[in-house]
Amino acid sequence: MKTLALLGMQWGDEGKGKVIDHLAAQYDITVRFQGGGNAGHTVVVDGRKHVLHHIPSSILHEGKTALIADGTVLDVDTLFEEIGELRKAGIEVTGRLLIGFGTHIVMPYHKELDAASEESGGQKIGTTKRGIGPCYADRKARLGIRYMDLFDGKALSERLSKSLAEKNCLFKHLYGKPAVDHAAMLKICEAWASKIKGFGVDTHSFLIKAISESRTVLFEGAQGAMLDTDWGTYPFVTSSTTTASAIPQGCGIPMKSVDHVMGVVKAYSTRVGSGPFPTEDTGEIGELLRKRGGEYGATTGRPRRCGWLDAVAGKYAVTVNGADSLAITKLDVLSGIGDLKVCVSYGFDGCFPDPRNPREPKPSYKTFKGWKKDISGAEKVSDLPAECRTYVDAIEGLFGARVSLISVGPDRRQVFEKG
Ligand code: IMP
Repeated sequence: MKTLALLGMQWGDEGKGKVIDHLAAQYDITVRFQGGGNAGHTVVVDGRKHVLHHIPSSILHEGKTALIADGTVLDVDTLFEEIGELRKAGIEVTGRLLIGFGTHIVMPYHKELDAASEESGGQKIGTTKRGIGPCYADRKARLGIRYMDLFDGKALSERLSKSLAEKNCLFKHLYGKPAVDHAAMLKICEAWASKIKGFGVDTHSFLIKAISESRTVLFEGAQGAMLDTDWGTYPFVTSSTTTASAIPQGCGIPMKSVDHVMGVVKAYSTRVGSGPFPTEDTGEIGELLRKRGGEYGATTGRPRRCGWLDAVAGKYAVTVNGADSLAITKLDVLSGIGDLKVCVSYGFDGCFPDPRNPREPKPSYKTFKGWKKDISGAEKVSDLPAECRTYVDAIEGLFGARVSLISVGPDRRQVFEKG
């Protein structure tokens, strides 16, 4: 497969960073195409933990190119913190990290607006407060600042004036906060421009050429299908398209550019922030999964809500994305837990309630026999206990896609092909 897309099939935090890291060695270029600093992709290499918010995980592989494409929103300070951490680990990004000219920049006022909206009472989304929603809103409202705008003083100043006229109205009259100063923003942008200037690329031309020259490309999704603005649990979603259709749009390439879509499925379910979560377990099992799985946000540190695997949402995610295969992660976390449950129905047809079907999901479960053996050292399917293999086969059947990869621990080496 010359081009492969990897996407989350749940509510994010499926372990995509780990799977991407495993695959990245085989691909020349890895591309982030949506989302921003709200993502937190964790990769453990020889016991050293790397958390990447912006930079594609392939940066950890020597000689590979990492592209932050135009469909993303970029927090320049977070990016440079990440670059600093990588340099401390002896990893240089210069010449290997590229940023699309049209990538939108998360401005300080986007983060302030995100926090102010969450704190203003009423419905809370439970965002990461990384400014994602306000930055994507400005993008669509044509008030955004793009990478290329940082180098065009006149256009930048004019866009900022128009944007701040609106933002300052909100700050003053709605949130009771001080106004944002135009000159101060210009100064920040100037400083960012000088730091970031060597990284720019025309994403469309770069990828079209790369694909036509048969260079291999891996598309790294962030968040998960159930957080998609249009196809997730709206309004408790992120502000970008988290499904496969974000790839052509975020990269300026044809739909047919993606040869294979691989969905990442954690062996149980988690969700951070508010919103529907039919299989959530607020008792002993949820607590056990949180503890054993280390289920705390890589970006915010918040404890994640935990529960059994949800095959109704999973099948929906596979269908929306057109997933050709699946990678199962954190299977080791289920060892020794006892019997396992998988949600197989909400008590009505379809996935989440809609106006035609406004009922609350009433999950019904299928129970699977658990296994006691520690599987973190497994290197092939036959190393897994029979009960574990049955659980994997059930995921294939219920989700409707074959399982191609199985991850049994956080380290780079703890993953194998199902075969
Ligand atoms: P935002 O993306 O910060 O606007 O947050 C919107 C919703 O998406 C919140 O419920 C967040 O917790 C959730 N979210 C955003 N990014 C991630 C992620 O990378 N993993 C899991 N949840 C996320």
